[in-house]
Amino acid sequence: MKKIISLALLTLFASTASIAQEDRKIEQAIKHRKAAFTLMATYWSRILQTVDGSRPYDPNAVIVDAKKVEYLSQLPWEGFVAGSERGDTKAKDDIWLEEDQFKKMAKDLETKTVNLVKVAELKDQKKLKVAFEQARDSCNACHKEFRKK
Ligand code: HEC
Repeated sequence: MKKIISLALLTLFASTASIAQEDRKIEQAIKHRKAAFTLMATYWSRILQTVDGSRPYDPNAVIVDAKKVEYLSQLPWEGFVAGSERGDTKAKDDIWLEEDQFKKMAKDLETKTVNLVKVAELKDQKKLKVAFEQARDSCNACHKEFRKK
């Protein structure tokens, strides 16, 4: 037991500045992706409220919000760096084990938000609802597969 403890201490002392730096990088990456999702969710929720009828339909405001969602949907992904499955995160390990599938789902969201902007510009509330639901399916599918509850 004593041996194990002293070994553990040794390992602890051996952890160099570069490991601390690596930890900071990972922490920063996690913060980055969560911030990107949070920002995206701000504009996303406004469109959601419009679609579910709890916010009056303002076609021009929806276009502006959809464009923000489209742009912000490109930003979380660079935060999924190697090693960032641990820390203050709900990301599942599977993201790094099934990277192709994760990237495909990220790309799918980007495609759906591009479509959301196009449809928002038609200023047709019924079509907006359909495009919104398609994008929402993309959020949900990825959360189901790759985000912890
Ligand atoms: C390709 C996968 C993927 C897609 C698509 C996706 N998400 Fe996520 N989302 C995640 C993962 C993984 C996390 C967990 C991030 C973490 O905790 O590090 C997350 C976390 C979040 C969070 C919580 C952020 C925080 O501060 O903890 C919000 C809000 C969110 N997503 C909203 C959305 C919305 C809205 C959409 C669709 C418009 C969406 N996401 C699409 C994978 C995805």
